[in-house]
Amino acid sequence: MPVMPVPIDRDGARSAFERDGFLVLPGLVDPAACDALRERARALVDACDPATCVVFSTKRPVHGGTEAFLSSGDQIRGFLEEDAVDDAGNLRVAKDRAINKLGHAMHDLDPVFSAFSRAPVLAELAAALGFADPRLLQSMYIFKQPFIGGEVGLHQDATFLYTEPPRVLGLWFALEDADEGNGCLWAVPGGHRQGLRSRFRRSGAGTTMDILDPRPFDTAGEVPLPVKKGTVIALDGLVPHRSDGNRSPRSRHAYTLHLIDGAATYPEDNWLRRRPELPLRGF
Ligand code: FE2
Repeated sequence: MPVMPVPIDRDGARSAFERDGFLVLPGLVDPAACDALRERARALVDACDPATCVVFSTKRPVHGGTEAFLSSGDQIRGFLEEDAVDDAGNLRVAKDRAINKLGHAMHDLDPVFSAFSRAPVLAELAAALGFADPRLLQSMYIFKQPFIGGEVGLHQDATFLYTEPPRVLGLWFALEDADEGNGCLWAVPGGHRQGLRSRFRRSGAGTTMDILDPRPFDTAGEVPLPVKKGTVIALDGLVPHRSDGNRSPRSRHAYTLHLIDGAATYPEDNWLRRRPELPLRGF
């Protein structure tokens, strides 16, 4: 099994997670496992036809209404950096430098990603953080390319993966060292107590954003989370977090896995849907 069996201090992890809304776990993943996942992602990109990729942007809603995005919840699909595509839709750089991310079901469709995502230590972590019936909902491999890696603005994951009550857990895996120079995560300690501000959902053939609370986030105390390769950051679905664009010559590969609690309701109008033949599974 690729992920190291580092013992998790259950009580300490739970109390820190509930206090801050996130938890940084250095050394949870063997560096060799990080490299194996990178190798597998490279193979998936090699096999990916750019014509089937979606341009990804958090600045303008170019991907929100597209069928390719909305149907990617139970697929493995490539998303391109918006700066990597010219106005005519042609790639400005090589495909392996143009790719922004892969999503959103590698954890169920790819054996290497499935094994990584279902390492026993991750089940132990989810249980320690109070997820009695975790269901693996979404996986993303984020490349954060040198020079052109896009920013991801301040958001709550529960905006995009909505459950009632809010029971979403994000696991963010550093597959390379991440720091302020190449676009590490930033988060607001305790920000998960500010409540959910918006909800992204399907509407007709497209999508819409419901504003639930128009106040901006209180970002006083926001902190960067520079981490070494092999670190896992657990994020409450309500904690505001973001990452800057990468203007450095270094990449910043990360893998994210989002779980929901099987006891929570997952509304039909969430953007991420699964075909009946591919029901959500746990660890
Ligand atoms: Fe996020």
